[in-house]
Amino acid sequence: MPVDASNALLRWYAVDKRRLPWRAEAGERPVPYRIWLSEIMLQQTTVAHARRYFEAFTQRWPSVEALAGADDGEVMSAWAGLGYYARARNLLACARTVAAAHGGHFPSEEAELRKLPGIGRYTAAAVAAIAFGRRAVVVDSNVERVVARLFAVAEPLPGARETIYALADSLTPRTGSGDFAQAMMDLGSAICTPRAPDCGRCPLASACRARAQGAPEIYPVKQPRKERPRRRGFAYWLEHDGHVLLVRRPARGLLGGMLALPSGRWDEAPERGDGAPAPADWREAGAIDHVFTHFALELSLLCASVGERRADGTWWPIERIGEAGLPTVFAKAAARGAAWKDVA
Ligand code: ADE
Repeated sequence: MPVDASNALLRWYAVDKRRLPWRAEAGERPVPYRIWLSEIMLQQTTVAHARRYFEAFTQRWPSVEALAGADDGEVMSAWAGLGYYARARNLLACARTVAAAHGGHFPSEEAELRKLPGIGRYTAAAVAAIAFGRRAVVVDSNVERVVARLFAVAEPLPGARETIYALADSLTPRTGSGDFAQAMMDLGSAICTPRAPDCGRCPLASACRARAQGAPEIYPVKQPRKERPRRRGFAYWLEHDGHVLLVRRPARGLLGGMLALPSGRWDEAPERGDGAPAPADWREAGAIDHVFTHFALELSLLCASVGERRADGTWWPIERIGEAGLPTVFAKAAARGAAWKDVA
C-alpha cells in the first residue's frame, strides 16, 4: 500500500476507532491479560456480543492469576452463550500456564505465545502486536477481506489464505503494527463490509484494486461451501416439584463440562428414548434446530413430570433456569421445556 494510503488509514483510525473496553485509551498501556481475553472471545463472536462477556469476566476475574484460580464449572457457565467450549477449557489451561510457568506475565514473543494452550497464529500475532508493540502480521476475517479487495485477490478462500497473509505482511509497518492491525479490523467492520462496502468513506479507496474494477463486494472470492451434515437427537426435560434435572456433560467432546439437559446420541437416526434419564411417561414437545460448526442438529424434546427424584444429577429450580448457564442449544430446548405443560 502506498505510504500515503497507510497514513490515511492510521489518521482515519485515530479519529474513528471504536472505543472498546479492552482497548487502551491514549496514554495508557494495554493490559496483556485483557488483550488476550478479548482476542479469544472475538474468535468466537462479534464485538457487540463479546463486550458483555468481557465485562463480566474481567469483573469476576480481574487478572490472569484470578482466572487461573477459578473453578472450572464457573468459568464454563460464564462462557455459556459464546459457544465452542473447547475454547473455554483452553482459556483456563492458558491462564493456569501463564500463572504457574510465567509468573503471571504473558510472554511477549509470538513464538512463545504460540506454545500456550488455545493460542494459534492469529491470537499470538494479535497479542504480540496489540499488547506488546511487537511487529506481527495479524490477519482475521476482516483484515482478510480488506487485503483481498486492496489487491483484488482472485484465488478463492480458503486456498488464498497464505497469499493474503503474505500480502498483509508486505503492508504491515515495522512499528505500530498493533494499531495498523486494529485499523484494518475496524475498517473491515465499519466500511469495508462484506456486502455493501462504503467506498466513498474509505481512506484506502484510491489504492484499492477491487474498487477500481467496480465490484469490490465480489472479494474475497470463496470456494462454495459443502452443506453441513444433519443429525438428530433427543433431549429430556424431567420435572419434579418445580425443579428440572440437569446433568454435567463429560469433560471431553462437544459442549464438554457444561451443564445440560440429559440427551442421547446425536446421529442420523437415534431412537426415541435413547439417553433418557429415567423411565417416565414422556410427551413430545416439538424440536429445536441448532447449527454447530460441523453439523446441523434437530433436537427433539421429550418432557415428563415425576413424583420423586428418579435420577441423579442437579435438580435445578425451573424459575431460575436462565441462570444455569446452559449452552445455547440446551437453552433453546429448556425454553420449550419450561412451557411444555402450557401446551401439552
Ligand atoms: N476483532 C478481533 N480483535 C479485534 C480488535 N482488537 N479490535 C477490533 N476488532 C477485533
